[in-house]
Amino acid sequence: MVFAARDTQAGIDDRDLHPMLQAWQRGGPVSPVPHPPPSLGEKAALGEALFHSRLLSHDGSIACASCHSPEAGGGDGRPHSVGVGGAVGEINAPSVLNAALGLAQFWDGRAATLEEQVAGPIHEPHEMGSSWEEVLARLAADPPLRARFDRIYPHEGISPATVADAISHYERSLVPVDADFDRYLRGDERAISATAREGFARFKAFGCASCHQGVGVGGNMYQRFGVMGDYFADRGGVTEADLGRYRVTGRDEDRHVFKVPSLRNVALTAPYFHDGSAATLDEAIRVMARYQLGREIGEDDRRLIAAFLESLTGRVAPRATR
Ligand code: HEC
Ligand code: HEC
Repeated sequence: MVFAARDTQAGIDDRDLHPMLQAWQRGGPVSPVPHPPPSLGEKAALGEALFHSRLLSHDGSIACASCHSPEAGGGDGRPHSVGVGGAVGEINAPSVLNAALGLAQFWDGRAATLEEQVAGPIHEPHEMGSSWEEVLARLAADPPLRARFDRIYPHEGISPATVADAISHYERSLVPVDADFDRYLRGDERAISATAREGFARFKAFGCASCHQGVGVGGNMYQRFGVMGDYFADRGGVTEADLGRYRVTGRDEDRHVFKVPSLRNVALTAPYFHDGSAATLDEAIRVMARYQLGREIGEDDRRLIAAFLESLTGRVAPRATR
């Protein structure tokens, strides 16, 4: 393995670098998703079954997967989710595919971990409208499921903690790997188009990467929506959900502050923003430039950045156990 960099007229030629250094040199603030272990085991498999089970909702009509389809980008494609009895929620459903990369869960970060997050949708009246008591009784009434819990969690059986543990194991297996962009970072020069490479350069040069960075290309910090302009005044009709982290901390400086979302697989998760207001990537990029960077960026630049964002689409690794 050759570690030495080779200087050329155009700068450092990174083709001879160790793959790790190559990825670092190419990605700068963005790094590839590490490959998961080959088998994720029976907890993730149980979690997968629970994630797709309607037993978790009050009227048996809805599963986690109804609003977070792992096959369709991890969201539901709606501006606002529809829960039990057709109830319309107040906020857009984020993708579950990259949730494990986030510093906390929900747009306002009110759940510290994936495990803690699970109780949220079960109790939320606009989502599953149920309770632990109801859910545990239903799961216990399903003998094969009960036997599975007893085998995997011999001491606890079915409990809020074991349901949340299994679902979280499954969610950690959902982080998509081998996006074209990751293959490019690891050294495959042709994995992405010249357009996407140029788009990544713009993404860094304009300053998008100051907030959307790291493995998740986002998900690792909180920022105000409307740093350079009053997005909410311009949009009008401010709701409780627009208050963001203020609802968690009660601090004035946290008004309209949200978790910076991961942009991995973002091409699959329209509409965008916590209010579901941007129907296309082009529109989301335009709004970000205006309100987060205080500039208008032209159609050509938006097209390049969109090509880069599309190269971030990865695949969900096949699981060994089902
Ligand atoms: C009716 C639609 C609906 C259902 C059902 C639902 N969710 Fe969600 N989910 C949402 C919405 C909407 C949000 C955003 C809520 C917020 O941030 O305030 C969300 C947020 C999340 C997040 C946080 C992701 C992030 O990046 O912050 C995770 C993880 C998640 N849901 C997992 C689940 C699990 C597990 C279940 C089943 C137990 C479930 N969801 C059921 C709509 C739904
Ligand atoms: C100052 C920090 C910051 C900067 C700079 C920034 N963003 Fe964002 N980005 C955010 C935050 C915060 C959100 C979530 C806003 C919301 O919905 O409340 C977001 C949301 C997005 C979304 C929507 C993702 C989704 O799943 O809904 C896209 C796409 C996006 N940004 C792309 C960009 C691009 C492209 C740039 C550069 C032109 C950029 N961002 C610059 C903080 C930033």
